[in-house]
Formats: sequence, structure tokens, C-alpha cells
Amino acid sequence: MGRLDGKIAIITGAARGTGETTARFFADEGAEVVVADIRDELGREVAEGIGDAAHYVHLDVREPAEWQAAVETAVERFGGMDVLVNNAAILDVASIADTDPALLREIVMVNQVGAFLGIQAVIEPMRQRGGGSIVNVASIDALEGSNGVAAYTSSKWGLRGLTKAAAVELGMHAIRVNTLCPGGGSAEMTRPFVEAAIERLQDRTERLPDRAQHPFHRGSELADFARAIVWLASDDSSYVSGIDLTVDGGWTVGKVEPGAPFS
Ligand SMILES: NC(=O)c1ccc[n+]([C@@H]2O[C@H](COP(=O)([O-])OP(=O)(O)OC[C@H]3O[C@@H](n4cnc5c(N)ncnc54)[C@H](O)[C@@H]3O)[C@@H](O)[C@H]2O)c1
Repeated sequence: MGRLDGKIAIITGAARGTGETTARFFADEGAEVVVADIRDELGREVAEGIGDAAHYVHLDVREPAEWQAAVETAVERFGGMDVLVNNAAILDVASIADTDPALLREIVMVNQVGAFLGIQAVIEPMRQRGGGSIVNVASIDALEGSNGVAAYTSSKWGLRGLTKAAAVELGMHAIRVNTLCPGGGSAEMTRPFVEAAIERLQDRTERLPDRAQHPFHRGSELADFARAIVWLASDDSSYVSGIDLTVDGGWTVGKVEPGAPFS
């Protein structure tokens, strides 16, 4: 028996990375999944790879009409709407002074407004099913601040705030809303910026954060996040709403101090 048997889900940004892995985990746990993205070719491949339990839709999360169409597809093809994973996002790395205002708006539109529109679109179909679970994928950047990512960080703190407001407002309909704060994700999202950071550091004494300082002494795997999303989507988290579930192997709790004793 799967932990998501009989559940119907939409996962945004599911053509690759965390969303793709989550779609596969959902199907393995018995869910039927609408794989949604703007990368149509990749998204179709993901859905075809999963089989009959998945269907791809083109969904630009900034577009209310495309949300309506995606929800209609879920209802017509699979019979309802139980789970929404607002996972689609974009990243830019630039100082506040150098941030292009148009790109700032774009980041907020995709990462924050997109999730808001998604919640609006699923309320009624979830009410008709007697409840549901919404998972907003934020970041550890929704818990703290860092240089170079002010636009992304603002959007993710906004998403966390949206989670809390929605959890209160939708609780009476048995719709749970939670935030996942991953401490990692797809290398594709960060690669261009990591390469630029390494170049910038070449002339300096600083280094990129050392893996040995991570409590787990390892980086994350996409499965680490997918498992947590499955839990938030499933009835195993039936009385959990409004939380920030941090999945970072303890990175935001503290760093291993080089030279200090440890067990
Ligand atoms: N990559 C990381 O290091 C990292 C760290 C913390 C949190 N996260 C978060 O994890 C989530 C998944 O990201 P990922 O790491 O898999 O990155 P990714 O870039 O591989 O995946 C993001 C997906 O969102 C899609 N997307 C972008 N704009 C869209 C739009 N307007 N409409 C629909 N889809 C759109 C992309 O096509 C892509 O498939 C995101 O919310 C991201 O912010 C990532």
C-alpha cells in the first residue's frame, strides 16, 4: 500500500530537479500526478517515463488561465485534486545595487505570485474532495539572509508568509498548507552562479563553504527533499499545517568547528 494511494497531485516545476524526483516518488507511493512546467519537452519525458499515473501539462505559474486549465486537466483525467506542490522557481545572484528591477519582478512573480495563484486555483476542487495538502517549496533562504540573493530571498520569505496565512484561512476546509525549506536542490539551478563565484574567489583568500563543516559531512540528494514532500502530502502529516519543515541536514542549526572536539 502506498502512502499516497488515491491522491491526485499537481507538481509545478516538475520537468527536472526536485520537482521531477518528487513526481517519481509520488507515483511510487500510489499518487496520480500532473507534471507541470514550461520546459515542455523535458516535462513530457518525465511524465512518459512515469507512465499512466502521470500526465504533462504546460503551466506557466504566472498565468491564472493556465492554472485553471491545469486543474481542469487533473479533475477530468484523474478525478479530482488533493495535493498541490508549488515547487517552480527561478534564481538570480546579484548584489542589491546590481539587481535588475525587471528580473526582481520576474522572480517574485514566479516564486511567490505563482504559488499564490496556484492556491487560488485549487481551493474549490480541494474543498469538493473534503480537504487537501499544499506544499510550498521555499528554501533555507526563507529562514535567513545572505549576500547576493536578496531578490530570491525576498520571494521565498514571502512564500513562507503566504503559507502561514493560507494555513489559517484554509484550515476550516481541511486544507493543510506547509513550507518545505530545502538546503539544496538541482545543480542546474545554481550551476551558472557557482561557476561565477569560484571565478570571483580565485583572487581572494576566502573559499566556498567546506563540506567538512556540514553536520552530515555530505551534500543533499533530491530524494532527501522528495521524501519530506511525500510526508507533507500524505495523511501521515494529518494535523500538520503552517510549519516550516527545514530539510538541510542541520546546516542552518550550526557548522562543525574545525579543530574543536567532536564525537
Ligand atoms: N537548487 C538549489 O540549490 C535549491 C536550494 C533551495 C531551494 N530550492 C528550491 O527547490 C525548488 C526546486 O528547484 P530545483 O532545485 O529543482 O531547480 P530547477 O531549476 O532544476 O527546477 C525548477 C523548475 O521550475 C521550472 N520553472 C521555472 N519557471 C517556471 C514558470 N514560470 N512556470 C512553471 N515552471 C517554471 C523550471 O523549468 C524547472 O524545471 C525551487 O523552489 C527552488 O527555489 C533549490
